[in-house]
Amino acid sequence: MSFHGKKAIVTGGASGIGLATVQLLRERGAEVTVWDQSSTENPVDVSDPEQIEKAVALFSKVDILVHSAGIQTYGTAVSTSDAVWDRTLLVNVTAAFYVCRAVLPKMGAGGSISLVGSVQSVGAVGNSAAYVTSKHALLGLAKSIALDYAKEGIRCNCVCPGAIDTPMLRWSADQTDDPAGALAACAQVHLLERLGQPEDIARVIAFLSSEDAGFVTGTAFLADGGAMVPIGGAAFQENGTARARV
Ligand SMILES: NC(=O)c1ccc[n+]([C@@H]2O[C@H](COP(=O)([O-])OP(=O)(O)OC[C@H]3O[C@@H](n4cnc5c(N)ncnc54)[C@H](O)[C@@H]3O)[C@@H](O)[C@H]2O)c1
Repeated sequence: MSFHGKKAIVTGGASGIGLATVQLLRERGAEVTVWDQSSTENPVDVSDPEQIEKAVALFSKVDILVHSAGIQTYGTAVSTSDAVWDRTLLVNVTAAFYVCRAVLPKMGAGGSISLVGSVQSVGAVGNSAAYVTSKHALLGLAKSIALDYAKEGIRCNCVCPGAIDTPMLRWSADQTDDPAGALAACAQVHLLERLGQPEDIARVIAFLSSEDAGFVTGTAFLADGGAMVPIGGAAFQENGTARARV
């Protein structure tokens, strides 16, 4: 799978899933530009449309867009403050809209957009009202773009990772009393009984960005180690109908 001659933009490319994606796309020959507020090579705050418009003006064409920038926040529908709600929706959804709006006019047939959603684009975990809402909305944006731009030969998918061992996940674990235990528990939610690695997701994004995925658009593409398979979670599997008398 070669990306020679392809121009790619990766938001959130300074860390975690985005960084692994930058490295893999570069290994496979793409010319990759990072848009990340923490980047030493090119700081861009994707929640600021003016910065995006300036950054995109440097491009005459873009073949691959990966939107991996995002933030994790916690709170229920009652305990989430207005500020946390607004910031989560701004960075995780509205920024994706700003970035796609700026990049789509630079894309032609064969263009591919991967929005990094989450298993929380299709399911929910506790105490994460704003994050879950933002990731569901991102899947809606991916479907909407897939529908509107199919006739131009542009594909758009939402990649939905399980728990991936990145600075974001480590930060989340650090919010608990037992960070090591929290990471171990995260690993166990996957059928494959391990955390995902950023490279696991980078390889999926590379596939979706390639012509090998030429018939794949508008999907919630799960890369979750099987986390979403058991109906009702492990308790249901062990005590419920999975043990039905047959
Ligand atoms: N790690 C996981 O378990 C996991 C699981 C599912 C989905 N995701 C999603 O994957 C994406 C990447 O997460 P990660 O785990 O690699 O996190 P990370 O924190 O390692 O990387 C996120 C990057 O986004 C950048 N960023 C944040 N806000 C930005 C802004 N306003 N402008 C520009 N850059 C900004 C950060 O600087 C950082 O480099 C996120 O959208 C996250 O929600 C992560």
